[in-house]
Amino acid sequence: MSPTPPPLPEFKLALLGFGNVGQALIELLLEKRADLEINPGISFKVVGIASGSHGRAIDPRGLPMQEILKAYRKGEALSGFSSLEVNTSEEFAHKCGADVLFESTPVNYQTGQPALEYIKIALENGLHAITANKGPVVHGYRDLTKIARQNRVSFLFESSVMDGAPVFSLARTGFPGARIQEFSGILNSTTNLILSRMENGETQEEAIAYAQSIGIAETDPSGDVDGWDAAVKVAALVTVLMDVPFLPQDVDRVGIRSLTHDLIHDAAERGNRWKLLCRARLDPESARGVLAEVKPTEIGPDSQLYHITGTSAILQIKSDVLGNLSLIEDSPSTKTTAYGMLADFLNAVT
Ligand SMILES: NC(=O)c1ccc[n+]([C@@H]2O[C@H](COP(=O)([O-])OP(=O)(O)OC[C@H]3O[C@@H](n4cnc5c(N)ncnc54)[C@H](OP(=O)(O)O)[C@@H]3O)[C@@H](O)[C@H]2O)c1
Repeated sequence: MSPTPPPLPEFKLALLGFGNVGQALIELLLEKRADLEINPGISFKVVGIASGSHGRAIDPRGLPMQEILKAYRKGEALSGFSSLEVNTSEEFAHKCGADVLFESTPVNYQTGQPALEYIKIALENGLHAITANKGPVVHGYRDLTKIARQNRVSFLFESSVMDGAPVFSLARTGFPGARIQEFSGILNSTTNLILSRMENGETQEEAIAYAQSIGIAETDPSGDVDGWDAAVKVAALVTVLMDVPFLPQDVDRVGIRSLTHDLIHDAAERGNRWKLLCRARLDPESARGVLAEVKPTEIGPDSQLYHITGTSAILQIKSDVLGNLSLIEDSPSTKTTAYGMLADFLNAVT
């Protein structure tokens, strides 16, 4: 008789934020459960889910994920699934009893709060904290990484800038001893989609309305259109890849509002396209040691950037040893964002 195999290590998971990303993460966890039991050989249960206006649920025995998805999508409160009373997100982060907290609440460009506080509480309580939210990365990277180290856990954020494309793990493991000198790219999918649709004849208002109708642009599209989302991403990349603390306000930022249909048409006549270009480079002469900008830029067909259309994204990284390296993400979705979080989880615990 062959001996009974030892039980798989089981991880307790909690989700703070249960919108597009949180729900996609639950769906991906359900899809991948059997695969993960084989490789890397782990199991999990979800012991907590918290939303903003739809309450919170904690159950150490594990929550019924399919039922919770159904209930939340019908607009029902999560508290009916809870085995204990929990009244705020801070209390949730303290009490959830998980090994890993996945944070996906809305971004606050100015301060990173309240997500930053939730992540801090989780790390201080010995949970790995994984976020898709760029706010805490740009406003808290050094502090949160230090707290994580002190508590022997990880603070990871793969999905925060490129929807799950492995940009931060690439930088962490693929560039030992290298110096990242500059990067450029197209990092805001909403404006890239708007510009692509304007090339096909729509006005900016029509293109924004389309982006809103498919759920990509918010009701107030200014975060994308005025370049804030791109500036926060640039600041996060400078902070982490170049190890220079940098805020969105430090990025020289111009959005796409001034790009009229005529300007786009004229560029097309010259064989070019307008793109909202993100750029940063080390510059020891500058006050912060890095110059960074987000600006509409006319790009010719000889550049890789020209060919990045719709919701796709690209990041080109130049280092002192590898020259130029490009990462292209083709039409990302909430599933790719969820995968970035799953990858962070697996990297943290295996
Ligand atoms: N969507 C994407 O593809 C994508 C890609 C990369 C990164 N991200 C980032 O991921 C995060 C989530 O995006 P999303 O599209 O999932 O947003 P979303 O659909 O608006 O969902 C946000 C969720 O957070 C909850 N929430 C709001 N305030 C909260 C609080 N104080 N405590 C606990 N929960 C709270 C909301 O609950 P109620 O609705 O019940 O109030 C909702 O469940 C954002 O930071 C975003 O920038 C998103």
